[in-house]
Amino acid sequence: MCRFLSNPAGGSGSVPPNATTSETHFGFRNVPETDKERLVAQVFSSVATNYDVMNDAMSGGIHRLWKDQFIRRLAPPPGTVLLDVAGGTGDIAQRFLNYCDSVHGDQTARVHLVDINPDMVEVGRQRFKNSAYDLRSQVTLEVGNAEDLSTVPSESVDAYTIAFGIRNCTHVDQVVREAYRVLKPGGRFMCLEFSHVDNPVVGQ
Ligand SMILES: C[S@@+](CC[C@H](N)C(=O)[O-])C[C@H]1O[C@@H](n2cnc3c(N)ncnc32)[C@H](O)[C@@H]1O
Repeated sequence: MCRFLSNPAGGSGSVPPNATTSETHFGFRNVPETDKERLVAQVFSSVATNYDVMNDAMSGGIHRLWKDQFIRRLAPPPGTVLLDVAGGTGDIAQRFLNYCDSVHGDQTARVHLVDINPDMVEVGRQRFKNSAYDLRSQVTLEVGNAEDLSTVPSESVDAYTIAFGIRNCTHVDQVVREAYRVLKPGGRFMCLEFSHVDNPVVGQ
């Protein structure tokens, strides 16, 4: 089951930090918090060049529909500045620019992609090098951690997206705190992630 979470009105008030735990989830097992970042890095470095093909094979291509719908739900108006965190090889960034171009004929929208894994970012960079989009004015890419977006000024982006990325982060509370910091007042936080459903028929 795939879910969209968003805060259409933007947020106010502080996000309470979770109690610190020494273990965290990694796939179907728990690992020490201190190991998770390294383990996640290993996984994505090993698959970076085949990531897009693998995604299609493993989801039967359905991730494309979820991502298309995710951007339609975001419905960015002209001139939107998007921060796409855990952006990987640029699937969300590309869909965002495609939407702005095809719906509004908008060349002024900008997306900044941040991902912790240099190999994934490099695949993304090559993708945009081979596209019609400008790698300085329309799309920029950076290696960085969702838990510490220190290069992104406070209240500087209209929208923050994180697709299939938040589960890979060790301290989700810190990720959300950073998202709140960088969003302009009234900005939108959009998270696309797998989740469980309670209905036993749908949840099979
Ligand atoms: C499943 S991929 C999703 C990529 C892309 N958003 C998509 O939907 O195709 C998860 C991505 O999260 C990145 N990631 C994991 N932990 C991160 C962190 N703490 N900060 C930023 N990116 C992270 C990984 O490097 C990987 O590229």
